Amino acid sequence: MIGQIVATATADLIERVRSGEVVDAVAAFTRSIPTIVIATLMNLPKERVPEFIAWTDQMGGIMEGRDDPSPRARELVATGLEATGEMNRFVGTIVEDRKKHPGDDLVSRIVHTEVPVTLAETISANTQLVFAGNETTSKLMGLSLVALAAHPEQRDELRRDRSLIPQAIEEIHRWTSVKTWSIRFLKADAEIGGEVLPKGTTLMAMQGAANRDPERWENPGVLDIHRAAKAHLGFGTGPHTCMGLNLARLEVATVLNRLLDEIPEWEVNNVDYGRNSMIRGPVEIPVSLS
Ligand code: HEM
Repeated sequence: MIGQIVATATADLIERVRSGEVVDAVAAFTRSIPTIVIATLMNLPKERVPEFIAWTDQMGGIMEGRDDPSPRARELVATGLEATGEMNRFVGTIVEDRKKHPGDDLVSRIVHTEVPVTLAETISANTQLVFAGNETTSKLMGLSLVALAAHPEQRDELRRDRSLIPQAIEEIHRWTSVKTWSIRFLKADAEIGGEVLPKGTTLMAMQGAANRDPERWENPGVLDIHRAAKAHLGFGTGPHTCMGLNLARLEVATVLNRLLDEIPEWEVNNVDYGRNSMIRGPVEIPVSLS
């Protein structure tokens, strides 16, 4: 299913880039593929995918703006909360539908779980599913295109030996994190870096920095697809580790395989990284062939 979605979504860019055009990969496919995939898994109406993209982007704005007092950021948060309401209302109608007409989709499985959950929890779990794997997966896809264009020798190795793709994706994710920081609240007094912090302290945990910790990785600033496997924090850790990590990996691998087949020497110039530092990644990737 993912292979088909990726083939359809990338076809136009591949054709235009081959004929000499410069095409934005975000608009062409990285932003839409994750949404189409999750909408398919949840059996949501395909024609509403553009709305899901708009809502989830606006919901992402809450994270971009939450700790910034500027009017622009306040506006981002207000719009994001409105979009969350829209998404919850829409998901509510789908949940009601799957109660009566269960199918072999993710929503039906959550609705008909034996675990006792309230309606609000069911709706928020499904909203979370539509939201969580969108911008994040799109950005890892984009960061992978950029990282490999900047490391053509390693990309060429991947083209020749596709079995290296999973470890390359892990290394790219470590090297150029998507979720660069998270907010955490101390549940008890704790000593961190030699300083005692009281219960209730708000922490900004810099997982992007942890992914380049020189005590954990030799030459952490170097991208090396042959680096020995070692857990990084790109998908979080502990009980709330990302639930969609294997789906994200599969989507990125499918895109890379496709591009390595069709336009293995892609180039990128003037990448725009937007302004979201928490969920970091390109918002525009002009792709061309030399
Ligand atoms: C490259 C893509 C992705 C990245 C970088 C990413 C990153 C993360 C991170 C860092 C967390 C932990 C948050 C925390 O501890 O506060 C998380 C949680 C989560 N992710 Fe992802 N994610 C990605 C893709 C996906 C996909 C594709 C899905 C589902 C379709 C998904 C669903 C979730 C869910 C449901 C949680 C919450 C888990 C829980 O609280 O128990 N994510 N993700």
